[in-house]
Amino acid sequence: MRLETFAAASLALLVAAPAAPALAQDADPAPIVEIMRTFAGPGVHRPSGAKGMCYVGQFMPSAAGRDLSKAVIFTRPSEALIRFSVGGGNPAVADGARGVNRGLSFRIDPDGAGQTEFVMINAPINFARSPAQMLGFLEARRPAANGQPDPERIRVFSEANPETLAQARFLASRPIPGSWVGVNYWGVHAYTLTNAAGARQVIKFRMDPLDGPSNLTDDEARARPRDFLAQDIATRLASGQPTGLRMVAVMGRPDDPTDDPTRLWAGEDTRPTIDLGTLVIRSVAEAQRCDGTIFAPTLLADGIDGPANDPMFAIRTPAYAISITKRAN
Ligand code: HEM
Repeated sequence: MRLETFAAASLALLVAAPAAPALAQDADPAPIVEIMRTFAGPGVHRPSGAKGMCYVGQFMPSAAGRDLSKAVIFTRPSEALIRFSVGGGNPAVADGARGVNRGLSFRIDPDGAGQTEFVMINAPINFARSPAQMLGFLEARRPAANGQPDPERIRVFSEANPETLAQARFLASRPIPGSWVGVNYWGVHAYTLTNAAGARQVIKFRMDPLDGPSNLTDDEARARPRDFLAQDIATRLASGQPTGLRMVAVMGRPDDPTDDPTRLWAGEDTRPTIDLGTLVIRSVAEAQRCDGTIFAPTLLADGIDGPANDPMFAIRTPAYAISITKRAN
């Protein structure tokens, strides 16, 4: 089963279920990457976000960003390498597919030190809160002898781990994005910004469409060409209008959890935000510029810290580092 069908399969299982017992142990990223590659099938370059486009652009920080963080990316405009993707391991997935996320990976690359990378999705939460839970989620969906996942195994896992259905529920509640720059993306994890005076603020990163949301009904999405997202960006760039997303900080409070990417903060949707800057796309880049690298979510400039107590955050860069060594050419 390809990864993009996970969310769809999960959707069928939105059942009321008892809370899961605490998962005591964490998993190594290698078996997770391996099972993702098995689901994607042979010859797939990336087992997640397999379909995508590479662009170059610029990150232009706001003055408010500098007040919150001393990171060099908030002090001056910097070059950016940007990859938009459609989730799952199928490089031929239709851009209008439901049940898969849209991804935004970017590297903000100031001259000298301070390179900073983000790998975001169009949902505010992840489907697993620990590597062990992610492995369990994938194992539960491993095809049985008949080549199909066993619905009973998925049901049992989902009942014990109800939070693993929340991301699919979120995506199902939203329209299909009509543009890679017409949807919100979230950094999912809780980060801490530190400014020049040493003041620390917990935040979540969110990207908001510069030109407003672009939403499709399911029928409209089905009527679109298979690869309409790249064409949409091309049309926007040709129009000369700024094409991109605004980065905002969703402000945290002292009691907000930072260790669980499956949980929204209380009232997160309506929290105050601070404008951190603008990510603007300039032009299409050669695919190799993105395909020859990884975006490493733990690579952050001084002044931005990832969550030290979030086990999912910790294994992301190691997982991507394993994945690049196994990519098909
Ligand atoms: C927790 C939140 C996570 C988010 C928001 C997320 C999002 C993404 C996105 C957007 C991509 C496409 C990257 C690109 O454009 O180059 C990706 C790729 C991938 N993800 Fe994640 N991911 C998360 C966690 C994880 C974890 C915990 C693992 C495994 C332990 C994982 C394994 C992978 C792999 C193997 C790839 C392909 C990497 C490559 O070959 O470059 N992800 N992810």
